[in-house]
Amino acid sequence: MNKSQPSLSLQPFMRSSLEIKQQFLNFLASKGHRVVPSAPIVVKGDPTLMFTNAGMNQFKDFFLGNAVATEKRVANSQKCLRVSGKHNDLEEVGHDHYHHTMFEMLGNWSFGDYFKTDAIDWAWELLTEVYQLPKDRLYVTVFEGDAGSNIAFDQDAFDTWKQFLPADRIINGNKKDNFWEMGDTGPCGPCSEIHFDMRSDAEREQVSGATLVNTGDPEVIEIWNLVFMEFNRKADGSLEKLPAQHVDTGMGFERLTRVIQGKKSNYDTDIFSFIIDETSAVAGIKYGAAEASDIAFRVIADHIRAVSLCIADGQLPSNTGAGYVVRRILRRAVRYGYSYLNLSEPFLYRLIPSLAAYFSASFPELKAQQDFVSRVIKEEEASFFRTLSTGHCMILTVFRWI
Ligand code: SER
Repeated sequence: MNKSQPSLSLQPFMRSSLEIKQQFLNFLASKGHRVVPSAPIVVKGDPTLMFTNAGMNQFKDFFLGNAVATEKRVANSQKCLRVSGKHNDLEEVGHDHYHHTMFEMLGNWSFGDYFKTDAIDWAWELLTEVYQLPKDRLYVTVFEGDAGSNIAFDQDAFDTWKQFLPADRIINGNKKDNFWEMGDTGPCGPCSEIHFDMRSDAEREQVSGATLVNTGDPEVIEIWNLVFMEFNRKADGSLEKLPAQHVDTGMGFERLTRVIQGKKSNYDTDIFSFIIDETSAVAGIKYGAAEASDIAFRVIADHIRAVSLCIADGQLPSNTGAGYVVRRILRRAVRYGYSYLNLSEPFLYRLIPSLAAYFSASFPELKAQQDFVSRVIKEEEASFFRTLSTGHCMILTVFRWI
């Protein structure tokens, strides 16, 4: 381990991403949660949403009081896609090392059952006792309050965190960072985020991590968001108190794995490295050889997951709506391969077998439809490569999205 890497010396062994996920689910099960499957990544029947953008989407009606949950505590790993609407990370993908189009969100929920104290206690226990993350690299945020909305500082969250952390590692956050909303309307509430500082000891001595939380520093990153659902944002912008108080937590699985595995990049974890290795073998270019090709490798590794899981959930590429988004993500991956990896014939479809194998325990729908998904992607690629090779690329690249 070199000096610039965090010294996560408490790690007794390198856990695989799948072990990390299983530990999360086992831990929540031990706290009385029912582990449920991910909802489809493509949303049907909710006009406010095209794709699942958070683990709580499938539970929206429980929060709003429109339906009653039979299980009061649930947990899962949810397939999410953030490429449109309120939550859109597309432009960062591949250029940085920790934003994704498709990502897995590890979540636990309370529907009118436990609230802030248990959510915070368990988050701390999982991170520091089960995963054994070093406590002195963890920072948390709490909602500072908002006079305009008549919401007070979140004293309860602060007091609960204070049992575990000194006050200078509990940071006040504003409405932008610490009041989570699903969309323009819908359930929402103050939240408390957990951030991890991955910088070297020398860097940490020079600059306190507290000053870097939520500033875009690529090595001081949010890993978990605990939302305390108490309001419904109505179409006129006003907030209405919900009939009960709920918990909605979401932890970025790819970031968590990076932190536990002590990697500098999400793409260096075992979630992505096999995809990059395979693309590298196809292209005959090494990952790490140049910045432009590295970005292309990361874009492809990210986008192929999004595209294949959407198709496996029944959303084919098309010219309208959700299908158009899938088509644009796929074409973006092809364009990066064409422009920066000198690829001139279909290559994405070749990544599907190993991707399907990786996801076989969590999202078996991909393996079950592996041949179909590969065929759809290959045909899309072939058609787009024809367009690129006939010179339309000059016009098409004017649009960043394609
Ligand atoms: N809904 C919150 C989020 O997406 C926590 O799960 O961050």
